[in-house]
Amino acid sequence: VGTGKFFVGGNWKANGTKESVKKLVAELNDIKFEDDVDVVVAPPFIYLDMVLNSLTKRIEVSAQNSWVGKGGAFTGEISAEQLADLGVGWVILGHSERRHVLGEKDEFIGKKAAYALSKGVKVMACVGELLEEREAGKTFEVVFQQLKAYADEVPSWTDVVIAYEPVWAIGTGKVATPQQAQEVHEAIRGWLVDNVSPEASAQTRIIYGGSVNAGNCAELAKKEDIDGFLVGGASLKGPDFGTICNSVT
Ligand code: G3P
Repeated sequence: VGTGKFFVGGNWKANGTKESVKKLVAELNDIKFEDDVDVVVAPPFIYLDMVLNSLTKRIEVSAQNSWVGKGGAFTGEISAEQLADLGVGWVILGHSERRHVLGEKDEFIGKKAAYALSKGVKVMACVGELLEEREAGKTFEVVFQQLKAYADEVPSWTDVVIAYEPVWAIGTGKVATPQQAQEVHEAIRGWLVDNVSPEASAQTRIIYGGSVNAGNCAELAKKEDIDGFLVGGASLKGPDFGTICNSVT
């Protein structure tokens, strides 16, 4: 825990049914969250309205993607102004599944971030290296290049949270060690000083994602530059997600 208020996001990905979402919302509404944590959940688009209307105001809501610009003739897409209209305060952008399964590129993601921010939608900006990139010693290079693509487009980092998600740790049960995560978070912090500003570096929260669960969160949360988590699988279980959110120390 280092910068700003601890931040935990729950990325539900393409999971859930009306029934299971209802149950998860009920579990989340029962959790007593610590005061010093921001909690945000990201349901699939189709459940956003239902979740917004049934979730306690203590928890904010995020989308998992948004279109790169103004809405219009873009079949299957959702624009940031539509998210804002619904009352969705956040969007996850640059997730590795969109980069590597859907082929989204750095520049496109940077433009998405700038557009979402321009519509008042805050951004969880994801970065992270593939296993082969880590093994080739290219982790920092890859992460810095992804960061630069955001920095080239966003006018301010005030409403941005950076999510470091090493691809090899996502959904694999193979969590980065606290030391491995800390090393990259610290490097991101340094990159912000050199390439954006000391203020942005001091104020931007850097959260970790990749197989975070109720058992490993406390050790990770102790690290100086880990300001929270972006949780996938474990965010689908209310009590586990509650434990992770309350791991702020
Ligand atoms: O965005 C969160 C994520 O990609 C991590 O997923 O299932 O490894 O916690 P998971």
